[in-house]
Amino acid sequence: MQRNDLKPATIAAQAAGTIDAASGGVVPPLQPSTTFVRDRDYQLVNESNVYLRSHNEAVRLGEEILSRLEGAEDTQLFPSGMAAIAAVFRTVPNGGSVIVQSGIYWGTTKWIRDFCTRRDIALHEVDASDIGALQAVCASSQAQLLFVETPSNPWLKTVDINAAKACAQTAGASLVVDSTAATPLLTRPLEMGADIVMHSATKVINGHSDVLGGVLSTRERTPLWDAICMDRNEAGAVMGPFEAWLLVRSMRTLPLRVEKMCENAMAVAEFLASHPAVEDVLYPGLPSHAGHALASQQMSGGYGFLMSFLVKGGREAALAVAGRLNLFHRATSLGGVESLVEHRYTIEPHTGIPENLLRISIGIEDANDLISDLNQALLG
Ligand SMILES: Cc1ncc(COP(=O)(O)O)c(C=O)c1O
Repeated sequence: MQRNDLKPATIAAQAAGTIDAASGGVVPPLQPSTTFVRDRDYQLVNESNVYLRSHNEAVRLGEEILSRLEGAEDTQLFPSGMAAIAAVFRTVPNGGSVIVQSGIYWGTTKWIRDFCTRRDIALHEVDASDIGALQAVCASSQAQLLFVETPSNPWLKTVDINAAKACAQTAGASLVVDSTAATPLLTRPLEMGADIVMHSATKVINGHSDVLGGVLSTRERTPLWDAICMDRNEAGAVMGPFEAWLLVRSMRTLPLRVEKMCENAMAVAEFLASHPAVEDVLYPGLPSHAGHALASQQMSGGYGFLMSFLVKGGREAALAVAGRLNLFHRATSLGGVESLVEHRYTIEPHTGIPENLLRISIGIEDANDLISDLNQALLG
């Protein structure tokens, strides 16, 4: 393994310095074995490995790389982002209490609401980008967890992580930050006081739209972290070796991809903001965005690859624009090398999402090609 003072680009490109000892390969091997042998004296041949649910080299390597990128004490990989979120919430006792940001990824909100109902957990939903509102909720409730997502999907609201930490402390809660849209490169929530940072690795960390995965990284080993690790090990929500191997391979280009995506996204956001057929653009990189100053402090190296924009003319006009796009794939998800567009109202019509909102995830294509495609689609 490498020195700890290396920059993210070096850690990622060299997969934390791994070399396959058996072959000398600069690429880690893929070991799919579910079980590992003992010798005639019943000693493990390799003391690190007993059974795949708990032990796999590619999973451990992925976790090591992510710990180093996040500045974390430890990381656990999960088979999806939702499995990672569920692992955190399963630590809350029946009858407990949690504070969750409103208007975040709808899948997260829906699962948390159902889970809290089933387990008799008090759920306080609050717009955490409004620190006054968050302070008020935290001051009046004792909670085990405060869960925020910044920038949020698909509203692109930004949450002040330092301030959220202070709020969490008043409530006696651990702060968990879903940093999927900020990537491990643009924001390091653990350094701002978060107890745990979460990512859907399905998005930019893998970045090639071919692996489902989730990440939890912790600032320090705590009873909460031990409970999460025990739950993953015993309940078995583990990432498979092939997925972990692909993830490690993908992470080698993570810093390059993020840099290019941010650069493209900024150009696209500026183009959309000046387009006569666009009502509004939600992107923290634009000075007009309510969270721009905070994002400039909290994110370094760019403002991410995710944005939403409102098309003049309502729902039909937005759907028509989506339908005319040639390069942007009409598909859910985000963070891949290819740009995607989604009409969120079709997916979550009951959440207050504007009917004319299109969410786009910007990939690594040529920015001018993306802009020309958007322009022809907007002009009709
Ligand atoms: C911000 C955010 N968090 C969590 C998730 C859930 O991740 P997964 O789809 O990997 O379970 C998503 C999925 O879109 C997301 O956008």
